Amino acid sequence: MTVAHVVEPLGSDELRAAHTLFSAAIHRGPADDAGWARTSQLYSPGRTFGARVDGALVGTATSFPSELAVPGGASLPMGAVTRVGVRADHTRRGILTALMRAQLADAAERGEPFTSLRASEARIYGRFGYGLATRGRTVRVRADATLLRPEAPRGGTVRLLARDEIVPVLRDVHARIALRRPGGITRTDGWWSMAVARRVEVERAHVLAAVHTGPDGDDGFAIAYRGEGPEFPERALELFDLHAADLPATAALWRFLLGVDLVESVQGNLRPLDEPLELLLSDPRACAVRGHEDETWLRIVDVPAALAARGYGAAEPVLLGVHDPVLEANAGVYRIADGASERVGPLDGPVRPELECTAAGLAMAYLGDRRPSELVATGWWSAPDPAAVPRADAAFATPAAPWCGTYF
Ligand SMILES: CC(C)(COP(=O)(O)OP(=O)(O)OC[C@H]1O[C@@H](n2cnc3c(N)ncnc32)[C@H](O)[C@@H]1OP(=O)(O)O)[C@@H](O)C(=O)NCCC(=O)NCCS
Repeated sequence: MTVAHVVEPLGSDELRAAHTLFSAAIHRGPADDAGWARTSQLYSPGRTFGARVDGALVGTATSFPSELAVPGGASLPMGAVTRVGVRADHTRRGILTALMRAQLADAAERGEPFTSLRASEARIYGRFGYGLATRGRTVRVRADATLLRPEAPRGGTVRLLARDEIVPVLRDVHARIALRRPGGITRTDGWWSMAVARRVEVERAHVLAAVHTGPDGDDGFAIAYRGEGPEFPERALELFDLHAADLPATAALWRFLLGVDLVESVQGNLRPLDEPLELLLSDPRACAVRGHEDETWLRIVDVPAALAARGYGAAEPVLLGVHDPVLEANAGVYRIADGASERVGPLDGPVRPELECTAAGLAMAYLGDRRPSELVATGWWSAPDPAAVPRADAAFATPAAPWCGTYF
């Protein structure tokens, strides 16, 4: 059933009501004044949509401006979609659909070739062209710094930050290194306020925040605190955030965490799939993989710009047909050749595609998370010409697993 609803941008005077609506949709109470002072900074002016029925606010979605690193070294504007909710008595009536359409049109108008989000449920966003584009794993590592192999990279020095240094110092380090890996994004000051300052100043009595200094200065950091709740054993550290420019810095930060006294294990969620912890440890079983999670749901808003911006592996040309009923300007046949991409015609024109996918299917391969051959084999892509599959694998191949490491 659809009901008459109107979707429009909200003014700053309605953001708190929108946030309260979102909080209720995820079964949380409204923010108090101090909480709202912090959270309100995540809302960027002019980027919040509201859906109304008979004048009452019944749905909302916002986004903040970010940049996304794509394979090959470029980074492009991206809308980081968050705070999506529909009032429980108005769900399944097309309200999210209307919000998504308005938000995607807005991103296209702003010249943002991507939007991305973290999904509360995996089955919600595919219909709007979002595809799962980066994943992570939950690891629990036995805390014993001597477990790091002597030959493992040692890195430079690690120093702890005082409470009031944490946000300003780590914000700068993150900005310097975040876009080195495909899938990485930039964070706004509002994100730091909402995600880190809140934890450091309000929620956690004690936070370990460590910076790594390598040959070129500060190039990595970790934030951890005592793990709380039933999923954590006694004397466990929960690793909230660890970013590093390279493997020596990563190894040094893990060595530091595993060597903190009175800690028996360190657990990190959504760590990169290719973080080589088992190879750094003398006992690979000291690293238990407790699960895999989806991280980035990516919407390619401007397929021509996105395909043109990324780098490609050496491969013979591939003709890829992209279907996109939500953003029809993306539909067409793209020729990927000589490390570049161009649209060579419409889907029903004389140039026939060798492979075909939807916008969501393209997002799954775009950053390098999934190979075209896997996507063809599992029915996400189709292959009118199967000979093109290995060529597409070679073109889309990336040297590292894509990873973001920023939750919003
Ligand atoms: C998820 C949520 C925003 C969906 O809003 P909604 O207005 O009900 O969505 P729509 O009516 O536009 O749904 C569009 C389609 O998606 C389906 N859908 C939407 N949410 C779904 C869900 N959680 N599970 C399964 N299907 C879902 C609908 O059934 C509908 O399918 P149809 O087109 O085949 O009929 C809403 O249920 C909500 O606020 N949930 C709690 C908060 C939350 O999870 N927010 C998302 C944070 S990432």
